[in-house]
Amino acid sequence: MSDTPPVVYAGPKRILSGVQTSGQLHLGNYLGAIVKFVRLQEEAECFYFLADMHAITVWQDPDKLADQMREVAAAFIASGVDPAKAAIFPQSAVPEHAELAWIFNCVARLGWLDRMTQFKEKSGQHKERSSVGLYTYPVLQAADILVYKATHVPVGEDQKQHLELTRDIAQKFNNDFGAQGFFPITEPVIEGPGARIMSLRDGAAKMSKSDPSDNSRINLLDDADAMATKIRKAKTDPEPLPETLDELKARPEADNLVGIYAALSGVTKAQALTEFAGKGFGAFKPALADLTVAKLGPIGAEMRRLLADPAEIDRVLKIGVEKARAVAAPVVADTKRLVGFWSPKP
Ligand code: TRP
Repeated sequence: MSDTPPVVYAGPKRILSGVQTSGQLHLGNYLGAIVKFVRLQEEAECFYFLADMHAITVWQDPDKLADQMREVAAAFIASGVDPAKAAIFPQSAVPEHAELAWIFNCVARLGWLDRMTQFKEKSGQHKERSSVGLYTYPVLQAADILVYKATHVPVGEDQKQHLELTRDIAQKFNNDFGAQGFFPITEPVIEGPGARIMSLRDGAAKMSKSDPSDNSRINLLDDADAMATKIRKAKTDPEPLPETLDELKARPEADNLVGIYAALSGVTKAQALTEFAGKGFGAFKPALADLTVAKLGPIGAEMRRLLADPAEIDRVLKIGVEKARAVAAPVVADTKRLVGFWSPKP
């Protein structure tokens, strides 16, 4: 037994997150992820990537995949992610993600992956017909994070388990290869008003691009009329808004709408309630619709402008790829050395 104390990670603070490129972005992505990305870019070096390799764990139309990816990039830029401060790039353009993922496939244990609830949800009743990629998805996610030795990862609550797996993989790799402190033990950054935005049709389901009802979500590219209509039609109850958060909690749909109002206006739910307590949805919904259109309208307009000139987006992405590879390539080289892979004698 050695007496040397475990070495803790001593590298720089680095922030990383990814968004899948499997369809239209919505209010849940905006409040749950992109707003945080913009705030965090002031704090440290940031890597925000378009997770197209994760997207293809379920079928994606090859004729649309690259444009879907540009759409997410446009949403980041239009929302204020600054390419001068944060690297924005497609995952598939940085081969180091896949290279590290393979090594991590040999570190992670089947038992760990068998516990992943997102796989269970996504594979449903036809587990044997799911892609192997869907099963090993969280291992690729660990590689996405650790290939930059990212210390902080802003994600939604549903990603907590994947972040725990990332920490387990880092710890086991460091132990197995006698490399304490090589990979950081990454912290999730989950808090924030937009951590959990629910469907407009069902206060118990997350707002999601895979919900068959388009009325369940506000898409960033919806026009003002569509946004207002969806909010008007949003499921609610007949009661006026309550005075306290406790009373609100028992009413998931009302709670969600107040949460959206609060997050978009940058106040707490309690503050939003002081404004609307005692008022019915006939008064609250139009205020929420106006606010949503005022906040998201300009972002949608800027996205459309960017998407009309894909070459401009591609210029940003190319710079992002270079920044990403400059960090990822040496990490993969060091990892391969630790694993014992061949490198030519000098
Ligand atoms: N799984 C994440 C999601 O669905 C997306 C993602 C892929 C990600 N790789 C990541 C998020 C790495 C954070 C870090 O939201």
